[in-house]
Amino acid sequence: VTSIETHSACSSPLEIVPAEPADREWCARLMASTEPWLRLGRGLAECRERCSDPQYVLRLALLGGERCGFLLLHPRGVAGSPYVASIAVDAQIRGRGIGTALMEWAEQRSRIRGARHIFLCVSSFNPRARLLYQRLGYVEVAELAGYVIPEASEILMHKALDRL
Ligand SMILES: CC(C)(COP(=O)(O)OP(=O)(O)OC[C@H]1O[C@@H](n2cnc3c(N)ncnc32)[C@H](O)[C@@H]1OP(=O)(O)O)[C@@H](O)C(=O)NCCC(=O)NCCS
Repeated sequence: VTSIETHSACSSPLEIVPAEPADREWCARLMASTEPWLRLGRGLAECRERCSDPQYVLRLALLGGERCGFLLLHPRGVAGSPYVASIAVDAQIRGRGIGTALMEWAEQRSRIRGARHIFLCVSSFNPRARLLYQRLGYVEVAELAGYVIPEASEILMHKALDRL
């Protein structure tokens, strides 16, 4: 359990926990209601499919026991290495370290299982997320033009994981 500052006067414990079946709908609704997926045209039905696909590991972030974000990881999604397929935090509480904690969880889970690399994709029109990933040590390795929608690219990013 990590403690995270929620506002100047108090801090609440942040937990990263396995998603229960009932959490999947919450994650799908968050995904379907926010950028970049709005612009990418990923509707609720497709988000539900992603969030219940057994190939992916879905983890939930709880702040003071309340759902506040999630991360969807494919353990062997790119060239046999883990792939962070989606990450989102409730818009009300972005910018307070929850996304970073979810990414650190994905990296640590992957290291523990022996992975030496981790990948993700970020949309060309999502500069804030790109900056976050760069700060976390991800490097842009390829640009997939028109990968989801014709007018945008998906940028493939890679990070080499330290050994434990
Ligand atoms: C990207 C996201 C998961 C990061 O979670 P977070 O809890 O806000 O992240 P942290 O607090 O650990 O880090 C903050 C950094 O995230 C990025 N960020 C903040 N708000 C963001 C937003 N609305 N959209 C994209 N990135 C954002 C910025 O780089 C920010 O740094 P800054 O405050 O110096 O600008 C979250 O902002 C989000 O859900 N964004 C919308 C969905 C999204 O873009 N997902 C990524 C798809 S590849």
